[in-house]
Amino acid sequence: MRVLSLLLVFLLASCANQPPKGDSLYRALGERAGITRIVEGMLLNSARNPRISHHFQDIDIERLRDKLVEQICVEAGGPCEYTGDSMEESHKGLNIDRGDFNALVEDLIDAMDAEHIPVPAQNGLLARLAPMRGQIIDR
Ligand code: HEM
Repeated sequence: MRVLSLLLVFLLASCANQPPKGDSLYRALGERAGITRIVEGMLLNSARNPRISHHFQDIDIERLRDKLVEQICVEAGGPCEYTGDSMEESHKGLNIDRGDFNALVEDLIDAMDAEHIPVPAQNGLLARLAPMRGQIIDR
């Protein structure tokens, strides 16, 4: 009996140490460190992008960075938790239009290119973010 419970404890412990299933996108993006570099690159690109830079003035950019890293980590199947506001709540009243959304996506792609992320992984992330579009754009 004692051997059985020891075996059970061992099995549970080894499960807990395993990365969650379906984390290949998370790994392709360079795990948490790589995702942080991508998000910081995207925010720098956006701050220099005349189409959308005005959106990123006068906000808590460190909070935005941290919440984006959490969110992309979760979407990519990584071992993270998203602790930010909903997409609807955080973008309400910002008057983000389709052009703004596309501009940010381009800035994200440029940041992933700079990190040499393979195109299939880039497309994988974009596909996970695309469904949020309707909650972010003011129509
Ligand atoms: C798929 C696309 C997008 C994702 C995944 C995303 C994600 C996020 C996240 C996680 C936050 C932080 C929420 C929090 O503070 O709890 C946020 C806030 C924000 N987002 Fe987005 N966003 C997207 C598109 C955009 C676009 C297109 C713009 C403007 C061009 C934008 C501008 C902002 C701004 C200005 C804030 C900060 C609001 C504030 O602190 O008052 N976002 N977004």
